Amino acid sequence: MSERPIAVPLSDLDDFTWERIFPQRRPIELEIGTGKAAFLLRRAQARPDRNFLGIEWANEFYKFAADRMRRWGVTNVRMLRTDASHFMRIVCPPASLRVLHVYHPDPWPKKRHHKRRLFQQPFVDAAVRCLEPGAHWLVQTDHAEYFEQIEGLLRGHPALEKVEFDDPELGIADARVETNFEIKYLREGRTMHQLAVRRHSDERSEEESAQGQG
Ligand SMILES: C[S@@+](CC[C@H](N)C(=O)[O-])C[C@H]1O[C@@H](n2cnc3c(N)ncnc32)[C@H](O)[C@@H]1O
Repeated sequence: MSERPIAVPLSDLDDFTWERIFPQRRPIELEIGTGKAAFLLRRAQARPDRNFLGIEWANEFYKFAADRMRRWGVTNVRMLRTDASHFMRIVCPPASLRVLHVYHPDPWPKKRHHKRRLFQQPFVDAAVRCLEPGAHWLVQTDHAEYFEQIEGLLRGHPALEKVEFDDPELGIADARVETNFEIKYLREGRTMHQLAVRRHSDERSEEESAQGQG
C-alpha cells in the first residue's frame, strides 16, 4: 500500500521526478483534463502494473477526482491541480510517458476564444517530447471543427504516426473511453471523433537518451 497522498502538492513540481510521487517505478500514463475522473479510475483499476497521473485545472473536479480515488482505494493514481500545458512544457521529464490521454478537451467554440484551446503547436511539441519512443497519445472529442485542428497538428507532426484507436491495450474496451462527457454526449446522439498516434521509436534525441526516464 502506498503511504503517499493522492493529491500532488505544487511544491513537488520543483525539480520534478516521477520517483518523487510514485514509490514504485512503472510505466506512466497521464490524463489531461480528468473532469470527475470516471475514465482514470477504471483505467487505473484495470492496469495496476502502471502509474497514473491525472491533471485537472478546475478545483471542484480535481477535489472530486482525488476523493474518488481515495474512496476506491486505488494506490497507483495521483492527481495534480495545474495547467496541463504548463506541466507539459516546463515540468514533465522528456521521454517519460507510455500513454497520454486527452478526452473531450474544452472546445472553446467561439473563434475569438480559439487561442484558449489546449491544442496549440507549442503544447503539441512539448507533449511529443514527453512521450517515450513508441508511446501512444489518444484524443477524443465530439467537436468536429476542433477535431480537425487537433488532427492537423498531430498527423502533421514528424515524430508521430497514426495508429488504431480501437486497441484495448490503450483504452477501456471496444474503443470506448467512457469518460463522464462521453457517456453524456453518446446519450445525446453526438458523434465521437477519435485519434490515436504513436511516437516513432527511432526519434529519440541525444538529450533524451542521456537523461533517460526522469
Ligand atoms: C469538457 S471537460 C472533459 C472532462 C473529461 N475528460 C471527460 O471526458 O468527462 C474538460 C476538462 O478539462 C479541464 N481542463 C481544461 N483545460 C485544462 C488545462 N489547461 N489543464 C488542466 N485541465 C484542464 C477542465 O477543467 C475540464 O474538467
